Amino acid sequence: MFWKNALLSLASIAWVAGCAASNLRITEDLFSFGGVNFPQLQYLAPSYRDKIIRKVVESNARVIRLFIKGDAQHSDPEPTLGEFDKDMLDRIDDTLAQIYHISKGTVKVIIVPHDAHSLRGTDDSPCDAYCKELEGYFLDFYSVEKYRDLYKTRLEVLFNHYPSRNFGGRSWSELSEVIMGVDVQNQPWANIHPIVAGEAWLCIMATYLKDTLGLGKSNIAVITGGISGPQSLTRNQNFPDSALDCPAVDIIGIHGYFAQKEDFTATAGTPWAQLLLPGNTLTARAHKQNKLLLVEEWSYQNTPLGLTYKKQAIFDQANALNHRGIPWLYSHITFLDNEGTTSQISIERDPDIAAIGALQNALTRAATSRSYFNWTTYMDAPPPSLLSNHTLIPMNPYIPDRSSCLIGCEGFLCDSADSCAPSLMCKNSICQVPSESQPGKIADSCNSKKPCLSHLRCGKDGTCQECRARATIPPEDFRRKVVFNNPHGKFGQCELDIKDPFNELEICVAPPASPYIPSSSSATQEEVEKALEKYPSNPCTNPTHCSANEYCSWGSCVPCSSLPPSSSPSSPFVEGCLGSPCTSSQRCKTGLCSVHGTCDYPAKPRKLSTGGKQYDTWKSRKGAGYGKGKGSGPNKVWDVPVRVKIPEEEVKATGTA
Ligand SMILES: *[C@@H]1O[C@H](CO)[C@@H](O)[C@H](O)[C@H]1NC(C)=O
Ligand SMILES: *[C@@H]1O[C@H](CO)[C@@H](O)[C@H](O)[C@H]1NC(C)=O
Repeated sequence: MFWKNALLSLASIAWVAGCAASNLRITEDLFSFGGVNFPQLQYLAPSYRDKIIRKVVESNARVIRLFIKGDAQHSDPEPTLGEFDKDMLDRIDDTLAQIYHISKGTVKVIIVPHDAHSLRGTDDSPCDAYCKELEGYFLDFYSVEKYRDLYKTRLEVLFNHYPSRNFGGRSWSELSEVIMGVDVQNQPWANIHPIVAGEAWLCIMATYLKDTLGLGKSNIAVITGGISGPQSLTRNQNFPDSALDCPAVDIIGIHGYFAQKEDFTATAGTPWAQLLLPGNTLTARAHKQNKLLLVEEWSYQNTPLGLTYKKQAIFDQANALNHRGIPWLYSHITFLDNEGTTSQISIERDPDIAAIGALQNALTRAATSRSYFNWTTYMDAPPPSLLSNHTLIPMNPYIPDRSSCLIGCEGFLCDSADSCAPSLMCKNSICQVPSESQPGKIADSCNSKKPCLSHLRCGKDGTCQECRARATIPPEDFRRKVVFNNPHGKFGQCELDIKDPFNELEICVAPPASPYIPSSSSATQEEVEKALEKYPSNPCTNPTHCSANEYCSWGSCVPCSSLPPSSSPSSPFVEGCLGSPCTSSQRCKTGLCSVHGTCDYPAKPRKLSTGGKQYDTWKSRKGAGYGKGKGSGPNKVWDVPVRVKIPEEEVKATGTA
């Protein structure tokens, strides 16, 4: 394969660099951030906990997610239903105070008041008092009034009754200086999707937290906590209508565990770049309904490729999330030295060697990444001068040399037409195999009216020609860390076209006159826009052939930035382009106005069910006892109590925490 052969060694590296201005780059002056899940942090001895928290803060994490639950050595703070162990809450309170003081208020906490896995004793969560009472019928927790009342009492004790011993006796619901948000629960309905009973529970509890217990008054966010457990790429586990339509929900917490593809057709970050595409159904709807998106849990998943790829997979995922401007929390950090093949990352290991180094690198980049979402209600904004002006996507410095593909491979992030292998195209910032219907592929017929993909040439025989990647300036210093972590190095810049007598293929066409804008560029917005004017365009016959920030006009993809901005001030999406508000499909240059009132790619509905028996949204369940007149407002959800006992072994355990 051409691509592999080209990468014989770092010295003879021939690859395509980002030679044009990046596409889908976020320019809003809004910040993103990174953080970590740290279960059991509260159980450490205070002095050791102090040392560990210092390390987390130094890693540039801005959020730590804490779990209120028992472990093998400690009981849940509610050992008997309705009775609370103050000592367990004091430990959390002490941890809050330490985080607040050590970070000088720059790091905040998300509190998980209960873990749905404790209802069944799954996923390393001991069976708690609720679990013992439920005797396996754990869905009763959501649908039976008695358990709702018990859970409300728990929340009330935690957030209203408990007087903070470190914050002057105030209740936790007032501590917005250190508490950024509260989950309704960790992974409600854990691993059950679609939700089979008690769906109204979500909005009832969110409203209880926000309004009754006063989190809303203090600007502490109410978070959904990863409904139904792991998010898949094609379904809506974490963002059912009941969450997006509930006014008390502030943040949709997404939990996803994606692995690198063993055949190197996707990195672990590719699904994140796809799921969180600006303007797609999820992100556009979140904007429209005033919800923030937070990837509250993601992690490394071991594959047969082995642990050599752990750091790559960590950086790839964070890099994709940073590029999409979605804040994230790694799941999870530990102080124990027992990473093994698990997703855990030990903060005590040497960052020059171990996975913690890749995570710290990613956290540092997250702290200066930009976002389409405005987080200032819940987090202090970093100074605007710190927000990254990167126009190129950072390269992954952790790809093992032995990997069969290092640069511009399928599934890699890309920032320009020629930053992917010649046979691929850069669409939606992902290097991908052109779809069957994509015009202008290698070997497709072409002429002056029927152009090739922008990096390809139309040959004399009237077909789009194969080509070879442009060479780039090799690094002066071959140590990987030096090469990849130096934003000022010329390494990777495009060489002038040099004839290679040993290679008959012509060099791929460079985008016309597009300047190289280095990663650490101080290029102004104006300069970037000027570069975009000469943006190399791909041919298209419909909008799906173009990226999210383009539309298809007279056979070629045209950047949306050439259009006037959206008339809706709250929408970052350009009028008529993907994600912008719409009332009819005629207004959408993408061809489709979705049922949620945003322009969408045509005819690619999210797959809502697999197999005949399953169903997903409340709408599709109208037949199943759904009453007329319940179909509006946040309570338009199915809420018929049913007793379902689901054997544990039928439910796949997730990546903990
Ligand atoms: C973000 O929200 C804050 C508070 O609502 C507001 O003051 C600020 O102007 C917003 N920032 C931007 C860039 O929209
Ligand atoms: C990004 O550009 C702006 C405007 O030119 C500048 O004020 C800011 O300091 C730059 N940020 C960084 C991190 O260089």
